[in-house]
Amino acid sequence: MYLFAPFVLIPTAFPRQEFHKAVQLQTILNELMHWVAHDTDFLCETLASTIKSDEFTANLYQIYETVLSENDQQNVTGPSALSYVLQELGYGDKLVNIKKLNLTATLLQLPPNKALSGLCDAMVEAWNLQANREAAILFIVENVTYNICDQRFHEFYIRREYPHVKVLRKTLTEVHSFGKLGPKKELIVNDVVASVVYFRAGYDPQHYPSQNEWDARLLIEKSMAIKCPSIQYHLAGTKKVQQALAKPGILTRFIKESTQIDAITNIFTGIYSLDDNEEGRKGLEMALKEPERYVLKPQREGGGNNIYGIDIVDALNKMTVLERSGYILMERIFPPISKGYILRPGGPSPPELVNLISELGIFGAIIGDKTKILYNKQCGHMLRTKLATANEGGVAAGLGALDSPYLIDD
Ligand SMILES: *[C@@H]1O[C@H](CO)[C@@H](O)[C@H](O)[C@H]1NC(C)=O
Ligand SMILES: *[C@@H]1O[C@H](CO)[C@@H](O)[C@H](O)[C@H]1NC(C)=O
Ligand SMILES: *[C@@H]1O[C@H](CO)[C@@H](O)[C@H](O)[C@H]1NC(C)=O
Repeated sequence: MYLFAPFVLIPTAFPRQEFHKAVQLQTILNELMHWVAHDTDFLCETLASTIKSDEFTANLYQIYETVLSENDQQNVTGPSALSYVLQELGYGDKLVNIKKLNLTATLLQLPPNKALSGLCDAMVEAWNLQANREAAILFIVENVTYNICDQRFHEFYIRREYPHVKVLRKTLTEVHSFGKLGPKKELIVNDVVASVVYFRAGYDPQHYPSQNEWDARLLIEKSMAIKCPSIQYHLAGTKKVQQALAKPGILTRFIKESTQIDAITNIFTGIYSLDDNEEGRKGLEMALKEPERYVLKPQREGGGNNIYGIDIVDALNKMTVLERSGYILMERIFPPISKGYILRPGGPSPPELVNLISELGIFGAIIGDKTKILYNKQCGHMLRTKLATANEGGVAAGLGALDSPYLIDD
């Protein structure tokens, strides 16, 4: 059975200036994440508490350490990594409703979205850097993929625009059964060299049902393939690292230009630790005092597990100190409410006019290694809209919906 992804019928108005500001910040943010991912000491310090309380992050971290120690022994420069960085923003009070709809005018105000071509072009750029015309780009997929249309579009785009580049799709289980390393650490799966690996799976504990899948992830990491993302990028993308970047003064460790630091500072604010130390106890106190101002987020990915408002008090009171350090506390964003229609499989027919809130995401791609950046681009955006009453925004989880920003001048 095929189901379409929920979407919003009419694009949601979004302030043009804020949109362009976010687009422009993306390459700086890419760079920040790149240096964070390559700062071993920072990752190690930051994740020390998380790997005690979160087994999934601990497993990722173990792979990271294994690869690091082997690379040091062999004295090889790590391969370049391709990463896809998502910047998520909520805006204070600027969304407005589109009152009258003129389709021609509407189309003119929808910014072009190069999310598909942007990521695919970056993957092919990585493939070119590897300079092996026989090699393939390997997509790591789940056994059953629910958002197959989104995923295969990437494959189809590469086949169409770059017909000389092979694309393979394998699960981690298959990589374990049929994968090995060649003499120069090439990743070889079923006799085909994969010079670029793009993970569409591997972000959730459920994607690793046995040690085999973890072994496959390690095999890929050990290989010279360019990974999107590599293990250090995966770790740099954790919420715990995001929280650490929100500590005052920390951004200067990674970004030298003060104008750039100023520009990204407000992306990393209002995030607090709940670790077993003074800082964490302060966070705990704040959460218990004014729970309605916060959302409690588990380090573990997957959505559906965030805790909001008054439930936070209950949850925190039930947790051990160790369990608590597996969470971070974030100030809630209360975006302005717009009105619109969400079309979803099994939803009301005709759809009802409902109150909605939106969150803009900007995508970026970066390729580089620990000494340099070779490619750094902003590529596309995503507007996720959900019922104003729904707490979780995951589109796949059924509560959020795909949307397009309609740019307006203030
Ligand atoms: C190992 O790396 C260091 C630092 O980059 C370099 O000076 C040294 O020559 C390398 N050793 C070998 C055996 O390649
Ligand atoms: C719709 O918008 C287009 C482009 O701005 C404009 O040329 C046209 O006159 C508008 N139509 C109506 C009915 O307002
Ligand atoms: C995917 O299928 C393989 C083979 O049937 C199985 O071993 C593995 O556990 C499955 N993976 C997941 C994530 O369910």
